[in-house]
Amino acid sequence: MKPYTLALSLSLVIVTAGATVFTSGSFAAEPAEKRIVLPQPAVSGGAPLMDAMSRRKTTRNVSEKQISQQDLSNLLWSAWGINRPDGKRTVPTARNRQEAIVYVALKEGVWRYDAAGNALVQVAETDAASRFGAAPLTLLYAGRADDDAGGMHVGSMYQNVGLYCAAVGLGNVVKSSGRDALNTAINLPSGYKIYIIHSIGWPK
Ligand SMILES: Cc1cc2nc3c(=O)[nH]c(=O)nc-3n(C[C@H](O)[C@H](O)[C@H](O)COP(=O)(O)O)c2cc1C
Repeated sequence: MKPYTLALSLSLVIVTAGATVFTSGSFAAEPAEKRIVLPQPAVSGGAPLMDAMSRRKTTRNVSEKQISQQDLSNLLWSAWGINRPDGKRTVPTARNRQEAIVYVALKEGVWRYDAAGNALVQVAETDAASRFGAAPLTLLYAGRADDDAGGMHVGSMYQNVGLYCAAVGLGNVVKSSGRDALNTAINLPSGYKIYIIHSIGWPK
């Protein structure tokens, strides 16, 4: 077992092969599927929408300061969370097909957001964060490659996340360049591609 520190602050709840393990910011890598259970997203409050839109902007210069698990949970819910009992999402999708995936690139690997479980599921163990510069967190948005709606869904995601960032003072930049960096590391479902990478961190 090779211990390493997850690049997110606070303690984690990791569920591996049915067992729940409580840690304090570190855990051991194992080849078996790992899940990180996130705190419940805070789905009310924050800056008023018009204030957030006024502040939305690209910030390229961010520090390495960690992003809390609560902010991570809120960011992921903004991008692709379930916001109604019928399972529909914070972003609209064509015919409600929900053909999109959000991945999280961290030093400790690549994780897929499981919205229903409010959890991250590890899909690769490669150091993914270092491929995208100094930002402590990069989200990757995947959609159908063969469908116009694929890119539209991703646009809704990065706008929601950009507004969340504006509301809480996080910096962020969306990029299409470099989006293929993890293509071989992630076992993307057939017919999907990464449209956008979205790096997030506290402004310097
Ligand atoms: C679809 C899309 C792709 C983008 N790709 C890149 C990119 O590859 N590299 C980059 O530095 N910025 C990229 N950007 C960020 C834009 O350069 C930025 O949004 C633009 O300069 C306007 O600045 P603002 O977001 O502060 O309004 C992209 C933005 C969008 C919407």
